Amino acid sequence: MRIRKNSLSVMTCFRVSLTFVLLSALPVARSAPPVVQRDSPDLSRQAGNVDTRRVLAEDAIGQNWLLNGRDFGSSHFSPLRQITDKNVHELGLAWSLDIDSPMGLASEPIVVDGTIYIPATLDVVYAIDAVSGRIKWTYDPHVRLDETIWGSYAARIPRGVAVWNGKVFIGTGDCRVIALDAASGHSIWQTQICDSVQTGITGAPRVGGGKVYVGYFGSDTGTRGSLVALDVNTGTIAWRFWNVPGNPAKGFENPALALAAKTWEGKDWWQAGGGASWDPIVYDPKTGLVIYGTAGPGNGLRYGVNTEGDRLFSNCVIAVRASTGDYVWHYQTSKLNPKPLSPENFHIIVTDLKIRGIKRHVAMTVPRWGAFIVLDATSGRLISWRSLADRPSELRSPQADDGRARSETGKNWWPMSYDPETGLAYVPVFDHIAASTHDLFSEAVGKLIAWDPISQSARWAVTQPLAINGGVLSTAGKLVFQGEGSGQFSAYSAETGQRLWNIDTGSAIQGVPVTFTLQHRQFVLVPVGLGGGVRLFGQTSVMATPRTKRGPSRLLAFALNAKVPFPVPPDVVPAVPKPPVETASQSQIERGREVLDKYMCWGCHGGQTLDGAGGWVLNGAVPDLRYMPQDVHDQFMGIVLGGSRRKYGMPGFGDGYTNWPMGDQMSAEEAEALHAYIVHQEWTAYRQDQQRPARSTSSPN
Ligand code: HEC
Repeated sequence: MRIRKNSLSVMTCFRVSLTFVLLSALPVARSAPPVVQRDSPDLSRQAGNVDTRRVLAEDAIGQNWLLNGRDFGSSHFSPLRQITDKNVHELGLAWSLDIDSPMGLASEPIVVDGTIYIPATLDVVYAIDAVSGRIKWTYDPHVRLDETIWGSYAARIPRGVAVWNGKVFIGTGDCRVIALDAASGHSIWQTQICDSVQTGITGAPRVGGGKVYVGYFGSDTGTRGSLVALDVNTGTIAWRFWNVPGNPAKGFENPALALAAKTWEGKDWWQAGGGASWDPIVYDPKTGLVIYGTAGPGNGLRYGVNTEGDRLFSNCVIAVRASTGDYVWHYQTSKLNPKPLSPENFHIIVTDLKIRGIKRHVAMTVPRWGAFIVLDATSGRLISWRSLADRPSELRSPQADDGRARSETGKNWWPMSYDPETGLAYVPVFDHIAASTHDLFSEAVGKLIAWDPISQSARWAVTQPLAINGGVLSTAGKLVFQGEGSGQFSAYSAETGQRLWNIDTGSAIQGVPVTFTLQHRQFVLVPVGLGGGVRLFGQTSVMATPRTKRGPSRLLAFALNAKVPFPVPPDVVPAVPKPPVETASQSQIERGREVLDKYMCWGCHGGQTLDGAGGWVLNGAVPDLRYMPQDVHDQFMGIVLGGSRRKYGMPGFGDGYTNWPMGDQMSAEEAEALHAYIVHQEWTAYRQDQQRPARSTSSPN
């Protein structure tokens, strides 16, 4: 039995909401007569009513947000125009809902007929009433966190769900795809699609043509990447396209992989793995293709495999036939990349562009290294490309041009948005301005760039203080919405980039805003709360301020003339507990720092300085080790070597491969040095804390 100060309140809170669901939602659903009203939730309709016909019919209307990216092309653009550049200053809070999601909400909601579906930490799915902001049901898949570090990592960062034909689909950190009844949240089927010891699902499943399409991460873990298509009704795997070839001795799964195998060199190259497709997936009904992006090649499950060559289909945009999974085309975007930055592919938008008078069906993408690439969606042929860093000096970061450092523009998974009316893509990127490429985000600022994909040039750009920010939404109201790590949620003029409206939410934003209409009112919905993979392994300071990293996980709904007072989150800075007496020598502390690096504690505890959470948070979150209480100091060896907290996703480092695939088992001497280092860090934080004048206004960071 583990006794946690904060566990009680969290669990009680969860139970209350569950009880609320059982007592109120079910009877209402049974007894309420169907009320049919135009432009309001139609109760006679089945919940989760999404299919091809409906998505296409709503394309030009935009009443709901039926798919990830809203339409099949994943444009993240809405034709709604009640909220415009002229009246956006009247935007106010309609409701807010605090969600028990200890690692933020870095995901995209789906909205169908008045119900919002969104996943939270540990892949818990929420269904929420879009008018009142009340929870209808929650579903906890009870993800196994004890298998390897990978599941623990993956389960904390779900990026979305999909909804189709009355079902809600979630991919879990332990490699399951689960279909839930959209009305009740009960599970209907579940299918294991990958090896949960090697990897986990972090991206939102995508749907179309009667199938759900799911990938998983794994280029970093040496897992062999694939895209899996499951039948929406039964959960059976309809097909799987392996993104990189496997063991030639076993024969190749298809002729395309036999050809791909010829592009790999190096001893045991087929054990390298990689080519993960964890996020960018688009189903295109026009061509009948699933178009998706892959990451780089791996180095094997034990990190010993070195390869060379083109290594297809890693670093590619691939198109396969949605009905069969047969290979159709690929384009290796990394071929264009002159820089050392990682070539991984992200969000793809499929749309029509008029290029030199001819209508072209295109796939547009910006890989990690920051080039805007336009491909022909039917053939995969390159139409044009240009680096996003290639823009007039007034649209660049001033630091980049003072000769002190060179500038590189990079992107991550956060979706861009394409507005067919302005003809501009709005791309969330970071400008890396440090002299070395060692840490991608240090000395970086965020940018929102309006880019013309036809002329391949920047129209406007705004600079944001932090490198990592949220996804982008554009609307026919001539507006672009985006949240920032600083907690700002803003609306910009789609034509000029001028900021027309903003609110300080108090929580770091890595979520994706969406919009919908209900009862004749247009809502803009944004999930807030520090989350995402970078939060686990990066410095939190690149994506949150000391205040916004402590901000609550919330859904915020805005509408014109809505007047709900904004519930400003109190900034409670927790006191650092008094650490144990420091007995270690300086050299032991130094050694502890090396051990920390060797076993990559920072891989979950928030970057090199371990300052991730800024507090002692558990139950789905990863604690800031500088706040370690006495009882945890007492149990340190049992936790870190013996794995006594493995069940909660804190690996044991003394027992080798099954839990810690990186190789060495940690020795007692290493663990002691590590402890000494952490105690030292805690003392530094404690002393700073003691000097703080007022407990609630500043933080030890
Ligand atoms: C896979 C991600 C991951 C890695 C890597 C990791 N931790 Fe943790 N750690 C966690 C999680 C998750 C928790 C919180 C578990 C809980 O809810 O109790 C945690 C908790 C802890 C705790 C407090 C134990 C508790 O739960 O009360 C200590 C001490 C700790 N980690 C030390 C370390 C050290 C030292 C390293 C490096 C050797 C490390 N961690 C690496 C995920 C990780």
